[in-house]
Amino acid sequence: MPQGRRVSASDYLEISAYLQIAKNLEAMGAEAENEGRAVTEGVVVIDFGSQYSHLIARRARELKVYSEVVPSSSTWESVRHIQPKGVILSGGPASVYEPGAPTIPEWVFERGLPVLGICYGMQALVHQLGGSVIPGLRQEYGSASLHQDGDSCSLFLNLPQSFQVWMSHGDRVSELPPGFSSRAFTENSPVAALSDGDRIFGLQFHPEVVHTPLGVSILENFLMRACGCEGNWTAGNFVKDSVQRIREQVGDGRVICALSGGVDSAVTAMLAHEAIGDRLTCIFVNNGLLRLEEPERVEETFRSNLGLNLICVEATERFLAQLAGVTDPEQKRKAIGEEFIRVFEETASDLGQTDFLAQGTLYPDVIESETPENRASARIKTHHNVGGLPEHMSLQLVEPLRYLFKDEVRDVGLALGLPREMVYRQPFPGPGLAIRIIGEVTAEKLDMVRACDWIVIDEIKNANLYDQLWQSFAVLSDSRTVGVMGDYRTYGNVCAIRAVASEDAMTADWVRLPYEVLSRISNRIVNEVTGVTRVVYDITSKPPGTIEWE
Ligand code: XMP
Repeated sequence: MPQGRRVSASDYLEISAYLQIAKNLEAMGAEAENEGRAVTEGVVVIDFGSQYSHLIARRARELKVYSEVVPSSSTWESVRHIQPKGVILSGGPASVYEPGAPTIPEWVFERGLPVLGICYGMQALVHQLGGSVIPGLRQEYGSASLHQDGDSCSLFLNLPQSFQVWMSHGDRVSELPPGFSSRAFTENSPVAALSDGDRIFGLQFHPEVVHTPLGVSILENFLMRACGCEGNWTAGNFVKDSVQRIREQVGDGRVICALSGGVDSAVTAMLAHEAIGDRLTCIFVNNGLLRLEEPERVEETFRSNLGLNLICVEATERFLAQLAGVTDPEQKRKAIGEEFIRVFEETASDLGQTDFLAQGTLYPDVIESETPENRASARIKTHHNVGGLPEHMSLQLVEPLRYLFKDEVRDVGLALGLPREMVYRQPFPGPGLAIRIIGEVTAEKLDMVRACDWIVIDEIKNANLYDQLWQSFAVLSDSRTVGVMGDYRTYGNVCAIRAVASEDAMTADWVRLPYEVLSRISNRIVNEVTGVTRVVYDITSKPPGTIEWE
């Protein structure tokens, strides 16, 4: 059938007849392909552009069912590796009758998998299976009371007759597709839930958001009952699977990995090490832009304690030379990124034949670059990630964390035996302290900001706040102000303290740190750090600010 054509009721019956055969063949193929895998089930989330799509995947994973968000243009071949036991169709901003509105790929129907359509996903189901969708009399945003009606729906098993849900839609279902019944309504949606019995379900509301308090139970009913998932997605199983996948991908090849000291590259390196041992070489570049004692700590953890093959390159002078006279934030990032690649290439070329580069790309990076709503998003900053692939090195990428969220990476880190302190470190940007020094970066300013940063972290830890903050750090501004110490006039730089709470760094709120903590930080900085005469606290959220100052 051509893409986008509506499936008629007779098509549908015909398709059903092939389902079992297709399913059996598929199961046989998948079994061979996945022999020995620890994780043997997943659910595909088809993204129609909802801001909540990745939340659906998160919720599934919290229920221990592996899940990936894929574009609606995905083919069956591109999702088979997920070993789908079901499909969830996300919401989205389009209306099904709009020209170019995204459609459910045909393999979803052909495979006979259980399907759950959410909001636009439900409307697309109705539209493509022969029902009708019309613009609602009123748009429905926010909380609504949902009432079950008609035959009971297996998605609502063990749920009360009425409960609160979160709505966000304009269109509504006016005619059900053949074989479907309505299962619930709200004041503004006569059909707020529908199903064909026990395989295809539609919900007009969003079960994935916290404002639908029983949403997780609904998703659990779908995954465990309709899809028959077992929930075997755990950090331990991920490690086993991932190690096996790396072995298969790399064969007898050699891998290099840029270690930054952060949890993502650390976990990537550990997985690769577990998979191929000494055929992995890690490269750690001391660019002189790191926090106090960082280079020593990385070397001790990875070489001495964990036994990794590690090359530490001392490149402080080279980086400082590239940064001399540079004040523009984007220029700094560019200079650091380019120098990093140069140092990395030189070091790697001394190693002889290398075939793969392991890097700690995370799922949010993948989602950001692939989802429709992000494609057009404006570039705010060029993010330089240590470990970016030098284009002409023609190394193949090994990205074992490509489908993990940060908290999942942390669980894997613990399962791999990485020290808790390293696993729960606050994120640190690739360009390091260079983007926390406003104006030109010099060795002297680096020493100052490093000392301030140490004090901030020390006091935050003393107050038992470290784990609750997304990031806390010091910024050295280029403003100079007058102060007085003893009987002397001082004239020095302003240091700003930044402490933010965030889930994913996309948005952040400044943290209301206790005054006593701020006071101790301020006192210590002006007393212990020569050249800093004043301390201010940054009370800007993101947006409109960003987390880093540059
Ligand atoms: P912003 O400042 O954009 O930062 O709100 C969001 C998060 O990203 C980190 N960050 C970076 N990380 N390379 C990185 O690896 C970069 O160039 C970079 N710039 C910002 C920042 O610390 C925060 O966690």
